[in-house]
Amino acid sequence: MNEIIIYGSYYGTTKKYAEELSSKTGIKACSYKDIKDINAYKTIIYLGGLYAGGVEGMKKTLKDLTDISNKKIIIATVGLADPNDKGNIDQIKSKMRSQISPDIYEKAEIFHLRGGIDYSKLSFLHKTMMNMVYKKALSVPEEEKTAEIRAMIETYNKQVDFVDLNSLDPIINSL
Ligand SMILES: Cc1cc2nc3c(=O)[nH]c(=O)nc-3n(C[C@H](O)[C@H](O)[C@H](O)COP(=O)(O)O)c2cc1C
Repeated sequence: MNEIIIYGSYYGTTKKYAEELSSKTGIKACSYKDIKDINAYKTIIYLGGLYAGGVEGMKKTLKDLTDISNKKIIIATVGLADPNDKGNIDQIKSKMRSQISPDIYEKAEIFHLRGGIDYSKLSFLHKTMMNMVYKKALSVPEEEKTAEIRAMIETYNKQVDFVDLNSLDPIINSL
């Protein structure tokens, strides 16, 4: 009742993590689109897919939080790039800082999970975006290619699934 798992997911990988976390913890999971009163919860676990560095739905959902003094906040990102690469984590975190207030950022425990992509299922807009990013990525000199750029090039136009449900364990341990 006092705890909630909220997810922002276009193509289901983040939802899959959220549902697994829900079944392992007994905490209800729902899309950020269905959240009515975020302040009603004491423990908030937000999982969001990464889209051009942004965490899907996070800004919109967490901006409604008022008093966070007695709250536990966990945020987990789900992206294609390697979540064990320090440069990638730094980049994700720096973008996250611009999407949530400094007090929420400081209070939140942050985790990074790996998702997947199936180009045949992408919307026209997302396909177009990825095509532009891919072309740009190819022009980056080899020694300057980050984990994110490499992951992008390696998976372009393919179907890949890096979802590892065991990577939820640190989040479960924190709860
Ligand atoms: C348009 C677009 C932009 C993306 N941007 C990023 C990104 O900035 N960083 C990243 O690691 N993955 C990025 N991805 C990959 C998604 O984060 C990955 O596919 C994730 O598993 C999607 O979650 P979902 O299935 O819950 O929607 C992008 C994918 C698309 C289609």
